[in-house]
Amino acid sequence: MAEVLLENIYKRFGNITAVKDFSLHIKDEEFMVFVGPSGCGKTTTLRMIAGLEEISDGTLSIGDRVVNDVPPKDRDIAMVFQNYALYPHMNVQQNMSFGLRLRKTPKADIERRVGDAAQLLQIDHLLERRPRELSGGQRQRVALGRAIVREPKVFLMDEPLSNLDAKLRVEMRASISKLHRRLGVTTVYVTHDQVEAMTMGTRIVVMKDGLIQQVDSPINLYDKPVNKFVAGFMGSPAMNFMVGSVQGGHLKSPQFDLAPEGEMAQKIKAAEGKKVYVGIRPENLGLRGNTAIQEGQNIIKAQVEVVEPLGAETHIMASVGGDQTIVARIDSHAQVAAGDQIELLADLGFLHAFDLETEANIRFS
Ligand SMILES: Nc1ncnc2c1ncn2[C@@H]1O[C@H](COP(=O)(O)OP(=O)(O)OP(=O)(O)O)[C@@H](O)[C@H]1O
Ligand SMILES: [Mg+2]
Repeated sequence: MAEVLLENIYKRFGNITAVKDFSLHIKDEEFMVFVGPSGCGKTTTLRMIAGLEEISDGTLSIGDRVVNDVPPKDRDIAMVFQNYALYPHMNVQQNMSFGLRLRKTPKADIERRVGDAAQLLQIDHLLERRPRELSGGQRQRVALGRAIVREPKVFLMDEPLSNLDAKLRVEMRASISKLHRRLGVTTVYVTHDQVEAMTMGTRIVVMKDGLIQQVDSPINLYDKPVNKFVAGFMGSPAMNFMVGSVQGGHLKSPQFDLAPEGEMAQKIKAAEGKKVYVGIRPENLGLRGNTAIQEGQNIIKAQVEVVEPLGAETHIMASVGGDQTIVARIDSHAQVAAGDQIELLADLGFLHAFDLETEANIRFS
């Protein structure tokens, strides 16, 4: 087991800089998730940790050892990819033990490790089967098993669940989390799925254009996003953004007049007179007359465009001033229909405001 330290790491491909000034201390036993949109540099960073991609600049250490020039096989890591290609002509036992046999690991040792891993992954009854005789989830477990038997210091996983259907993905997500708790091996997990990131990560790195945007625990990222990108990326349905201006400490537009509370009331003073993006999450909105949110200086006028009853709750998409659409998660028994003029109440403790140019969260800057 080991910690992984990335210090000012860069990756350049010709004149493209895929990863920029990436610094991160991944602690021993941590489950660190890299998340971000396609092309933001997640895989490239993971491959640099694995040693499959040369580091253009900066220092990478695993344990106490600088490994910039250490070949992948000597880094004591195991990697699980999206395309986990098992050997079709080998059975599960042979697939799982292949790497160990290459390394001339003693036979008794191999048997113990494969047996333990198979039991842990609940595939011990499948050891004689070939990959084509397995379900997708079972195959993914074998791929994980192949990594586990290596008993590495660090697991690197690149979207390992993206080939599975939605239900299996949820199941495997839980399995991997459980596995991590059992084995305690430092893990770096890449995904572009913010739900996977939130549910699995001890901490999450949000990336964009090769740059770290924020590193934090799931709940801190959700509650205290440092900028509009992070705020909009974490959470589904996403945070709503509406343009407004700061007037007398209020966030105003022709459709709303919101009076920030607490720390936000203090911070917003610095933006007096400026235009900002007002941010509020769908669950922090309620339908006036049908919500527990207290009425005060917190009304947003809107027109309902779409009503989506989900059973436990209803999502409404509503137009604010004709040019911005916001989503509200409201009580599923509220009487509301497309075309209705409505008033939404904002829970003022959950307001955010972002600078129009830098997109920094004014509340936390
Ligand atoms: N071998 C390469 N040569 C040139 N450019 C590359 C190479 N590999 C990656 N890139 C570029 O580096 C950037 C980051 O790519 P990377 O694969 O790390 O993204 P990612 O975050 O993993 O995206 P995805 O979610 O689509 O897998 C992209 O702009 C990509 O086009
Ligand atoms: Mg990738």
